[in-house]
Amino acid sequence: TGAAVTLTSCGLDPSPAQSGELLRSKAKLPEPFTVPLPIPPVKKPTAPDRYRVVQRKASLEILPGLKTEVLGYDGLFPGPTFDVRSGRTTVVEQVNELDVPTVLHLHGGHTPAASDGWPLDLLMPAGGHHDHSGHHTMQGGDVKTGSRIYTFPNTQRAATLWYHDHRMDYTAPQVYRGLFGLHLIRDEEEDRLPLPHGDREIPLVIADRAFAEDGSFIYPAAKGRPGVESAYMEGVVADVTLVNGAPWPVHEVDAVRYRLRILNAANARRYELGFDRGPAKFVQIGSDGGLLGAPVEHETLVIAPAERFDVIVDFSAYKPGDEVTVVNRLDENAPVLRFKVTRRASDDSSIPAKLSTYSAIEAPKGIVKRQWRFRRGNAGGHHGWTINGKAFDPVNMQAQVKLDQYEIWSFVTDVHHPVHVHLAPFQVLSRRGHGPGPYDAGWKDTVDVRPAEVVEVLVKFTAHKGKYLIHCHNLEHEDMAMMAAFETI
Ligand code: C2O
Ligand code: CU
Repeated sequence: TGAAVTLTSCGLDPSPAQSGELLRSKAKLPEPFTVPLPIPPVKKPTAPDRYRVVQRKASLEILPGLKTEVLGYDGLFPGPTFDVRSGRTTVVEQVNELDVPTVLHLHGGHTPAASDGWPLDLLMPAGGHHDHSGHHTMQGGDVKTGSRIYTFPNTQRAATLWYHDHRMDYTAPQVYRGLFGLHLIRDEEEDRLPLPHGDREIPLVIADRAFAEDGSFIYPAAKGRPGVESAYMEGVVADVTLVNGAPWPVHEVDAVRYRLRILNAANARRYELGFDRGPAKFVQIGSDGGLLGAPVEHETLVIAPAERFDVIVDFSAYKPGDEVTVVNRLDENAPVLRFKVTRRASDDSSIPAKLSTYSAIEAPKGIVKRQWRFRRGNAGGHHGWTINGKAFDPVNMQAQVKLDQYEIWSFVTDVHHPVHVHLAPFQVLSRRGHGPGPYDAGWKDTVDVRPAEVVEVLVKFTAHKGKYLIHCHNLEHEDMAMMAAFETI
């Protein structure tokens, strides 16, 4: 029976901010709101729709006066932003100049399996200093050395996607050290809307990190090792909040509307973003999979790892000189970033009552149903986390799913797990037997499943046959085998 649910000591919703042990920085940290908000550069093509990215180490000044070694796409933290058009295939050559194998995944991408970042489709370093610590390397993967071509058809509608490392067993440390970035898809439906644009459209990539005295990242040394286990098992949470790679940054705005594309790129931390003073609120216009049908207003935004919220914030009620701080309500209103209103300005943007042709789909009768149970457990020699009682197995598929057919998938949890499905977006049908929650609107590819909960979603895979993944996007849980492979047929 499904009754054996283990709750954490405080397993009722709303849960405490984090259950894992907080990693504390030893480095000298700046005062919040002293570092300007960086905007990741837009990646330039080498020829129309062709790109080349070098994965390399770089020494960056993340904390003022200190250097942090990162693993970065083009040596950046976060990586460059891809800004592409729906329906235009992009071809990306990735070159690995690191000393660890990597795997690139486009999160939210409708991508053929060969380019989707199967966790064993390794790109080995050009230099040949291979890390042999992985258990299953070479088994069931297409391994390349030096460089690899990824093809992204970008067939989906306009949306805020992101890309990140997906190496089996090592996704969490490699993303933590910098292997992540944004991938924006635009289309005509979105172009027609009078939304804020140009420098009034701002990406906010939020992630937490801890820093040693010399500025290097602190990350638990190894999974399951005594002494570090508690900092690892529940997922790594750290004391410095970075936005676009800067600690608690500040950004100057005009007293007008802004479009903020918010990505929670943290390994394991959930945020409830709110403002320290009214009347600002979040008017949500889009979700993981693009525009909603109609805007949804939120006082606060709960955002789990890998989720995206596309929101409009109106600063017109503030006067020049006012400061508006975004705080995390799940962490005693800890600072995230600050906006400084500098001047009044004209604003030709608006938020239309109808944003897109999105509509909720009704589940057909006699539809296939599948259950995915996310639980702590030991399986297959793994000490960690399981799906349907199994640790990730790259050889045996847990399901075969027919293309072009809706299915209802239900996700059942013990503790919090942000559940992510590759290849196809889904619509949330229900939570705990009731309707979708306030943050479930639109096409999603990641859903914040809370402790001891059942979330049902409607999903349909199209176009690409092959091996795909469903997993927890708490990246330490994922690395501790909370991932399952399925095959689209
Ligand atoms: Cu964002 Cu399978 O990942
Ligand atoms: Cu999890």
